[in-house]
Amino acid sequence: MSLNIIILAAGLGKRMQTHLPKVLHPLGGKPLLQHVVETATKINPENIFVVYGHGGALVREQCKHLRVQWVEQSQRLGTGHATAQVLPFLQSSSGQVLVLVGDIPLISALTLEKLLAKTSDNKVGLVTAKMPDPTGLGRVLRNADGHIVGIVEEKDASPEQRQIDEINTGIIGAPLAHLQRWLPQLRNNNQQNEYYLPDIIAMAVAEMIEVQAVLVESHYEICGINDRAQLATMERYYQRQRAHQLMLNGVTLLDPDRFDLRGDLQTDQDVTIDINVIVEGKVKVGSNSFIGPNTILRNVTIGRNVVIKSNCVIEDTEIADNCIIGPFARIRPETHLAEGVHIGNFVELKNAKVGQNSKINHLSYVGDANVGQDVNIGAGTITCNYDGVNKYQTIIKDRAFIGSDTQIIAPLTIGEGATIAAGSTITHDVAAETLTLTHRLEQRTVAGWKRGKKK
Ligand code: UD1
Ligand code: CA
Repeated sequence: MSLNIIILAAGLGKRMQTHLPKVLHPLGGKPLLQHVVETATKINPENIFVVYGHGGALVREQCKHLRVQWVEQSQRLGTGHATAQVLPFLQSSSGQVLVLVGDIPLISALTLEKLLAKTSDNKVGLVTAKMPDPTGLGRVLRNADGHIVGIVEEKDASPEQRQIDEINTGIIGAPLAHLQRWLPQLRNNNQQNEYYLPDIIAMAVAEMIEVQAVLVESHYEICGINDRAQLATMERYYQRQRAHQLMLNGVTLLDPDRFDLRGDLQTDQDVTIDINVIVEGKVKVGSNSFIGPNTILRNVTIGRNVVIKSNCVIEDTEIADNCIIGPFARIRPETHLAEGVHIGNFVELKNAKVGQNSKINHLSYVGDANVGQDVNIGAGTITCNYDGVNKYQTIIKDRAFIGSDTQIIAPLTIGEGATIAAGSTITHDVAAETLTLTHRLEQRTVAGWKRGKKK
């Protein structure tokens, strides 16, 4: 049977106090809406429709990579009205529809599958939860036999109904044919003058159609995000879950509460991650590697037995096995470090290839450079790659030794095994196996010199 999913995301998000549409606020580095779309995708629907409204252009722009169909709700007249906007896009009248909510990001695929199992040609399902504090939410009305008979919104509820602790999550499954009949019949004669989607429950009951609930156990799964405090609570919950999964996969997290994953992290066994590490984008870490505290990794591939000491910022970089990086290294995009490379403190690399076992251990800038194997670059070396207009390449061949405080004015090539004396300014190519030094000021000594006395 065919399945279509509708995600409601046209709400204003007033309580977020924001110019950014609510569903674009990030959770774990991804827009709220993207979480829902990714979960929806897991249950293989024919189509995913996203109903958007407020700030719609921005939502579409920032989520254009998602494979969904966009449906505009130009007036915000309620969840039933929002759902109805999709009907013209659904040609057939068979199959099932699941309605999800853009600001309930952590609904699980398992719950959606359970909901689907309770929804059929002639059955309606809804996801409910028991809340310690149900204030503000729609309550589930059941008859004496325990059968669901309807949903009442808090604002329309009697004091007795407000005592009910089972709430509607807003996530509903129904046969498309019935929705096509029911949605046009919705009325807005309620406290909010809105067309309520949950009113279809009472319609189903009136037609003797079975309504069943999937009761979720974890509140977090169905928690809607309405303000930034709830967003922060959900962020921590989400991070703890991701951290837990990593630990089960064989990663040691020295403190799972001080770890932030805002992307995808793939790890082999025996990876250790110290505190306050932020992982963004796609990051891979090979077995036995260590990520030191206060380090940021963004789109980085790290091999085996790599040590990244504290306080490094590394992005769009590949690091082969047995490298030692940091502390305080900054590695910028398009950098490739071969096996056994050492990058030390206060070294900045950009668009640099560094060959096996080469070392850049202190206070250097190496950008737009191709460095061979077994090269030693001394402290304070700078590749001067930019003349204010264009960028130029530096090539340093295998076994070269660059003395401290050397400026290399690119473009140029330093040959194999060449030695550059400390304090040189190199402006031309250097031949292999030579020593090159630039003019040095004569050293003068004044014998018997006494420093002045403090007044
Ligand atoms: C809704 C449910 C309530 C449930 C609660 C759970 C209704 C009438 N009530 O209430 O029973 O307990 O969710 O969180 O459905 N939206 C649109 N267009 C609209 C109105 C809303 O797209 O015209 C979207 C919103 O962006 C949001 C979702 O629908 O993602 C729910 O709307 P919201 O206003 O938050 O409904 P609640 O009052 O919270
Ligand atoms: Ca809500």
